[in-house]
Amino acid sequence: MNSPDSRFKTIIEPFRIKAVEPIRFTTRDERQRALEDAGYNLFALHSDDVLIDLLTDSGTGAMSSAQWAGMMRGDESYAGSPSFYRFESAVKGITGFEHVLPTHQGRAAERILCSVALKPGDIVPNNTHFDTTRANVEAVGATALDLPVPEARDTGSLAPFKGNMDVEALRRLLAERRESVPLVMLTVTNNSGGGQPVSMANVRAVSAVCREHGVPLFIDCCRYAENAYLVKTREPGYEDKSPREIATEMFSYADGATMSAKKDGMGNIGGFLALNDDALAQAARNQLILTEGFPTYGGLAGYDLEALAVGFEEALHEDYLRYRIRSVEYLGERLLAADVPIVRPTGGHAVYIDAKALLPAVPQTEYPAWALSCVLYLEGGVRSVEIGSVMFGRQPDGTEKPAPLELVRLAFPRRTYTQSHVDYLAEVIAYVGSIRERVRGVRIVSAPPVLRHFTARFEPAHGSLLT
Ligand code: F0G
Repeated sequence: MNSPDSRFKTIIEPFRIKAVEPIRFTTRDERQRALEDAGYNLFALHSDDVLIDLLTDSGTGAMSSAQWAGMMRGDESYAGSPSFYRFESAVKGITGFEHVLPTHQGRAAERILCSVALKPGDIVPNNTHFDTTRANVEAVGATALDLPVPEARDTGSLAPFKGNMDVEALRRLLAERRESVPLVMLTVTNNSGGGQPVSMANVRAVSAVCREHGVPLFIDCCRYAENAYLVKTREPGYEDKSPREIATEMFSYADGATMSAKKDGMGNIGGFLALNDDALAQAARNQLILTEGFPTYGGLAGYDLEALAVGFEEALHEDYLRYRIRSVEYLGERLLAADVPIVRPTGGHAVYIDAKALLPAVPQTEYPAWALSCVLYLEGGVRSVEIGSVMFGRQPDGTEKPAPLELVRLAFPRRTYTQSHVDYLAEVIAYVGSIRERVRGVRIVSAPPVLRHFTARFEPAHGSLLT
């Protein structure tokens, strides 16, 4: 069913549940102890101590019965498996790219692309790099340059496409430094910038500038289906197009893509690198063999390839996208009604609380978004993730610079939670909003040199998280 019966307004989960997984209730005291044991880092919690887990939408979704059936069909031949050809055909059917290299997840595709296309001193512009993309660009000695549109930093602005790239800034960069820019990337939706979509007009404009200068454009397409749906509902001229038609048009403006299939591949693991350039594809395949596996499985089991071949299509179903985007929007509405500031408008996969606005008394040097995510766990058993100065504050030279935004992301696993879970979340977050004056900051006790948010340990900067 692609258009709901217009007499009824309730948007329902477009599935019924065949297998259930119990979730475990804990007491506030138990959660206080769990936080202490975890060094106030939610990544270090045992996940069965979490009631509602919104740490990420990556690999955490529920697969469909068709995907599970596909898994039984998985052919585990080392080379030339029919499961690979089904995967390849699904990816080519949507993206149109010539070469499809499966990888075990998105960052492997990024690492391979960076290792074959970049050299030290290069610059890679992106609307906003995700943390692993940034780390992979920097790992080869290149600079990851974010060029978001100015409204991306204004969490209250209702602009519909705050994920867009600043095309004029890109034009200037290429006019001055063309020889240092081996490729341009565009992340759809813009995860680190609040899950905001990129408009088709922006993709087209970025592509035109790239083509004028002969620079290939790569799309980080983890959430291509959600972006397509937001184009359909927000960009004039696309209302009558299907998400699939919109996705295919978007890819037609690019020369390649990296994908974490743990998002809009609807899988628990997987990814790909897809591209048109034959020579670059050959170099990438050599890298793939070195670290991932033979080019027809690339670090995945045959059954994973089958599940993803089905998942890429399911992610584009309009009734699924309508329910998903609406669930996120609904939580956003409930939080705004409770006077909790969020990034507006809500985007694809997550609600982002604006911790700087919620906790103006906590200085950025005490990581307000990190502290808030700890309080949400303490009070309600909800796990979220900080996207702020812990994630982005440490510079490649080791100095510290506050991130432009201090966000707490509540990412929705796909097809996993229901309406009552979302109502519970709204209640917990509204409660934490009502005690905002009592929230205090945190300080870092120990941290690794890169990607510190995963393993750093913290303590309350003033004795406890709440006064
Ligand atoms: N690009 C974007 C935009 C992402 O959001 C992610 C992962 C990746 C690349 C890397 O993919 O995890 O499969 O290696 N994002 C997850 C998240 C981890 O929570 O947003 P991966």
